Amino acid sequence: MNAAIRAVVRVGLSKGMEVYGIRRGYLGLIRADFIPLESASVGGVIEEGGTILRTARSPEFMTPEGQQAAIENLRRIGIEGVVVIGGDGSMRGALVLARSGIPVVGIPATIDNDIYGTDMSIGADTALNTVVEAIDRIRDTASAHERTFVVETMGRNCGWLALESALATGADVVIIPEVPFHLEEVCAVVQRRQRERKAHTIIVVAEGAGSALEIGRQIQECTGVETRITVLGHIQRGGAPTAFDRILASRLGAGAVEVLAQAAEPSMVGLHCGEVVTCPLEEVVSKQRRVDLRLYQLEGIFSI
Ligand code: F6P
Repeated sequence: MNAAIRAVVRVGLSKGMEVYGIRRGYLGLIRADFIPLESASVGGVIEEGGTILRTARSPEFMTPEGQQAAIENLRRIGIEGVVVIGGDGSMRGALVLARSGIPVVGIPATIDNDIYGTDMSIGADTALNTVVEAIDRIRDTASAHERTFVVETMGRNCGWLALESALATGADVVIIPEVPFHLEEVCAVVQRRQRERKAHTIIVVAEGAGSALEIGRQIQECTGVETRITVLGHIQRGGAPTAFDRILASRLGAGAVEVLAQAAEPSMVGLHCGEVVTCPLEEVVSKQRRVDLRLYQLEGIFSI
């Protein structure tokens, strides 16, 4: 996110715009927490995780009163366009602003990678690499102890992070919300691998498909195989961004300012086939990006 903020600030300034940061997202809009941003304000942030502007979930912005306060603040201060960086909730909020006549451009940023209108959201690649590193480490201990591990990834209702990390680590089973799973089949894989004297079994489960704790408990009960659980949790959300994410964020930040400058329809910038593209916000919020089920089939073939 910092790389995106940096790009918005520096491209905005290069076009003669004044740029303000809104601290803590929609909460900051309601509280009129605006800070002027100069080129130096975003120096040395490209390699930092998190966001220098901070963030917050804002139930207040879900109410008509909260939305009205936010819109009034923008008008009072004379903000002529807003760049919203965030996930699907942020894009829905962006549409609220747009419907009140404020020019808005969205930049997709979520480790869930579930936003329609872009192949990749900012942060997803960094989170994926963190998950891959964690599973690689877990595999070492799983092999040494000849154990079964169930690793739970984030992703909300989307299986992207689980599926891609399973593919990248050669996991033996992946459980995602997009595909119904049967515990007996998972247990059969564990038992087959035991018979084949495989050193370990790694099962990756997306949080939206079930709880690793529960699945692991059931596997141990059904198979008698010693099973350990790792819930990766919030380590998936921090840390220095990958080069891919820094470049993606920089390109999308620059693209967002270009779109604002052209006073185009309310839209979100995204990446499609390597190009920065735009998608109407209405479409972004009414559709969902689906995981590629061909990758799920591939994962099944690789893990035989
Ligand atoms: O949407 C991003 C995400 O990290 C999800 O993957 C996860 O379910 C959720 O946010 C966690 O939210 P919080 O940090 O508020 O617990």
